Amino acid sequence: MIRPTILGLSGNVKRPSRTAALVDAVVSLAAERLAGNGRLIELVDAAPVLFRALRADQLDAEGRAIIDAVEAADVIVVGSPVYRASYTGALKHLFDLVDYRALTGKRVILAATGGTPLHGLMTEHQLRPLFGFFNALTLPTAIYATEADFTDYDISNPAVRERIERAVAELAQVLPAADRSSPAGGSGHRQTLVAASA
Ligand SMILES: Cc1cc2nc3c(=O)[nH]c(=O)nc-3n(C[C@H](O)[C@H](O)[C@H](O)COP(=O)(O)O)c2cc1C
Repeated sequence: MIRPTILGLSGNVKRPSRTAALVDAVVSLAAERLAGNGRLIELVDAAPVLFRALRADQLDAEGRAIIDAVEAADVIVVGSPVYRASYTGALKHLFDLVDYRALTGKRVILAATGGTPLHGLMTEHQLRPLFGFFNALTLPTAIYATEADFTDYDISNPAVRERIERAVAELAQVLPAADRSSPAGGSGHRQTLVAASA
């Protein structure tokens, strides 16, 4: 993996969006630190395309291109506004269309924004298990920000920036090690974990 592809997926269904700003900040820093190619997909754009299909075999070319981008990314930064104590239904629909084998070993950074700090564990209770299903490698530091952490949809709380720094530092630690273990990339990391515990 010469230049890792770092894909931001933001579950926002409106614009402007604090979640999109947060995910974009993580993607930008990760792309800078890892010399990667960053890209952001917002569900406000993707959901109307993806909801034309209820199953993966119904995807049209535009929808297939979105799912292909998710399945091909080296790193995914996934963020969602908290809606009804979980991630948005639009984001869940996207992952319902992703092949269940496609995210194995992929490094994933989790993020969310909400109206209240009381829902700050949504990343742990809702998002992390989703990627457990996919056998993806979620990084330990998740980033949660409330509306009060933004000014005009820009991150204005330095504590949020510090958590972004920490999550990206964790990503930088796991990415080179995984690459050394296998030129094939993603699945190679999984092999390393298995070998280490054998
Ligand atoms: C339909 C709806 C449901 C929401 N549910 C919650 C919730 O359960 N917990 C919470 O903390 N915030 C909740 N919020 C607030 C949003 O999570 C918060 O405003 C978020 O930062 C919006 O992100 P965005 O700017 O990316 O759209 C809700 C907002 C909407 C519109």
